[in-house]
This record gives sequence, structure tokens and C-alpha cells, in this order.
Amino acid sequence: MTDAATIQMKPMQAEDIERVREICARLPEAPQWTEWQWRQMLTGREVQRIALVATVNTGESIGKNAGAETGIVAVSVTSLVLEDAELETIAVAGAWQRRGVGRRLLEGLMQRCAEVGARRLMLEVRASNQAAQRLYSIAGFTETGRRPGYYRDPAEDAVRMERWLA
Ligand SMILES: CC(C)(COP(=O)(O)OP(=O)(O)OC[C@H]1O[C@@H](n2cnc3c(N)ncnc32)[C@H](O)[C@@H]1OP(=O)(O)O)[C@@H](O)C(=O)NCCC(=O)NCCS
Repeated sequence: MTDAATIQMKPMQAEDIERVREICARLPEAPQWTEWQWRQMLTGREVQRIALVATVNTGESIGKNAGAETGIVAVSVTSLVLEDAELETIAVAGAWQRRGVGRRLLEGLMQRCAEVGARRLMLEVRASNQAAQRLYSIAGFTETGRRPGYYRDPAEDAVRMERWLA
């Protein structure tokens, strides 16, 4: 982070859904899940998931972002099947992008996944989503393949990436 803001991570809770949906609504690459779907993510028992939110406490030296956005600024959801984890989404509020939040959240979720026994983190990303692919490369992910036409609206290939966890 380039200013006095501090970022922390915590498990997402039902009371966070509204803010998380607000963040995602402004990001075309983020999932537009309904409130019910978010609740399923948090409470569904058929799949084990780790949902984390990143919060920012800007203190007083916050410059041009004064009063703009504090509290929850990012979210990630990861599902777990035995030793494999799959990143279902990661999204950072527009005003907080390019400030290291995504990288920190990714590090936090990888640590959490390793703590609960996952050995590998996998993901799929739109071929055109260069921002996310760069973030993942920096975090140690490598491309393992492509799924032609995997995405709809617009139709696009998925790039599959993965990295081993410590
Ligand atoms: C992808 C996303 C999560 C990145 O979050 P972020 O907090 O902006 O990322 P960071 O600030 O930690 O950036 C880490 C690195 O990723 C790369 N990166 C991030 N955003 C980038 C962009 N818009 N263009 C190019 N590179 C980018 C840069 O290399 C960056 O390091 P740098 O700023 O020192 O150059 C964010 O852009 C986002 O929420 N996008 C919309 C949702 C989305 O696409 N999610 C992924 C779906 S698979």
C-alpha cells in the first residue's frame, strides 16, 4: 500500500453480503451472485469453502481517498476438495485496485488453504483478463492449459492456472 492504510483479512459473514455484492456489481469480471447464492457460499454444506474479505482501515493520512471507501474493499471465495483448492473468485473494489490488496488477499487465502490441508490452488480466468493473469503470475501461478469457449457473454476461452502451496 502506498499510504497509511492497513489491510486485514477476515472470514466473510452474512452481514458482509450486501457490501460484497455492491463491490461485485461494479466489476464485470466479478460474479454477480444473488444474495441467496452468497448465503449458500457461506453456509452450504455440500462443498467446503473459504470466503475471505479484506478490510481497510485508512486512519487519517488517506489523501485523495479520504472518506471514499473504508471497511470491506475486497473478497475471495475458494472451494476445497481434499488436497485441491479452487479459487472461485477474487475481486477488489475499483477505488482500491492497483494498491496491493489483491496480492495480499491472495497470499492470505493461500496461507489459509494450506492451513486446512490443501496442497494445490487452481483457477480459471478469462483469456482477456490480463490484470488478473498478471496478479496470479506474480503470486507464483503457472498456466496449465486452456478450455476453449468455456465462458459465455461474451464467449471466451478460459486459461487454467495453478500453483503448489507450501
Ligand atoms: C484482478 C484484481 C483482483 C487485481 O487486484 P488488485 O488489488 O488491483 O491487484 P494488486 O494491486 O495486488 O496488483 C498486483 C499486480 O497485478 C498486476 N495488475 C493488477 N491489476 C492490473 C491491471 N489493471 N493492469 C495490469 N496489471 C495489473 C500488476 O502487476 C500488479 O502489480 P503492480 O501494481 O506493482 O504493477 C482486480 O483488478 C479486480 O478485482 N478485477 C476485477 C475482478 C476480476 O477480474 N477478478 C479475477 C477473476 S478470475
